Amino acid sequence: MRKLKNIMVTGGSGFVGTNFIRYIFDKTDFDGIIVNVDKLTYAGNPHNLIDIEKKFGTKRYFFKKVDICDYKNINKIFKQYNVDTIVHFAAESHVDRSIFGPRDFIETNIIGTFNLLELTREFWAGKEDVLFHHISTDEVYGSLGKNGYFSETTPYNPNSPYSASKASSDHLVRAYFQTYGIPVTLSNCSNNYGPYQFPEKLIPLMMLNMLEEKPLPVYGDGKNIRDWLFVDDHISAVWTILNKGKAGETYNIGGENEWENIKLVNVLCEKMALLTGKEKDYYKKLIEFVKDRPGHDRRYAINCDKIKNEIGWKQSVSFDEGLERTVQWYLINKLWAANIKNGSYRKWIDVNYNKRNISLQ
Ligand SMILES: NC(=O)c1ccc[n+]([C@@H]2O[C@H](COP(=O)([O-])OP(=O)(O)OC[C@H]3O[C@@H](n4cnc5c(N)ncnc54)[C@H](O)[C@@H]3O)[C@@H](O)[C@H]2O)c1
Repeated sequence: MRKLKNIMVTGGSGFVGTNFIRYIFDKTDFDGIIVNVDKLTYAGNPHNLIDIEKKFGTKRYFFKKVDICDYKNINKIFKQYNVDTIVHFAAESHVDRSIFGPRDFIETNIIGTFNLLELTREFWAGKEDVLFHHISTDEVYGSLGKNGYFSETTPYNPNSPYSASKASSDHLVRAYFQTYGIPVTLSNCSNNYGPYQFPEKLIPLMMLNMLEEKPLPVYGDGKNIRDWLFVDDHISAVWTILNKGKAGETYNIGGENEWENIKLVNVLCEKMALLTGKEKDYYKKLIEFVKDRPGHDRRYAINCDKIKNEIGWKQSVSFDEGLERTVQWYLINKLWAANIKNGSYRKWIDVNYNKRNISLQ
């Protein structure tokens, strides 16, 4: 087991990063510090961690509003906190946005990752008890037909600017291990769902549209297949890799839980109907098929035998339980979603973070 002390989490105010930081403080015996480096793009919301900041701030949790492309400032943070572990979530993450405007994806996902790797080269030369863990996606492998699964040896074949930028960053991370001997691990995970997910992604978008009785847009014929994993299971997999993963290795993470988009939306409609006291098919009438996304991959499916057999991880939340917990969370936290939809979360960030020049404190 590795001893983790000073973790730099990038993108900790986004969906998966927020859940990661909450999980580490709530559910593990980690007793070191976390410094969360996040640029706070539209997808970053530090309010997600306000209770953590109150409980652990000034001693064990630190937030820095910094762009990972800003080498000077991340270098300062790295030195200040004597970082021994990087858990790299920060990314532009929405495929549709990458189609309309790929530049930010290239800058953050490629140049940002390169900057972080350069830091490790500067500060970690000759050190052994350090680790750079890179979070990636199954989308780098491209699209599957009806059969087969992505494994760690599947050749890369990305189809969107998002997946191409993630693929590029994966290659850089691996190259820093091979060329400079930097201890790195990588994980490629399937679609996550759970609390705090920005409502542009399929599951929260559908739920919030149901609550407002708005159309539920489903791409193409709705038969594209994704593998779904509850976010805490992604986090527990990352935690297992941080503690027991072997340097230089990639681990695929998945739910072994494939759903056609249209079937998933139907199940979600039923779950929402049950929890809001409506009849079973009430929300299904809102489903609308819309023009397909260009380059839309047909099927993703993950073989995650390696992480199970070699370092002992497994999923612990069934799809039924995970969906129920997610729908409940969005119902209880309607204000969270409302603040995002009406933009007031940005004003809150402006007052509490931007004006305090938090990056340099
Ligand atoms: N959500 C999923 O289903 C999923 C699945 C597999 C892999 N991943 C990967 O997990 C990571 C996190 O995904 P997510 O869904 O939480 O994304 P997200 O979009 O919700 O959050 C991304 C976070 O990164 C921050 N960020 C963006 N650009 C930055 C920059 N230049 N400098 C510093 N911070 C920056 C944003 O402010 C935000 O807080 C990504 O690397 C993504 O590729 C996500």
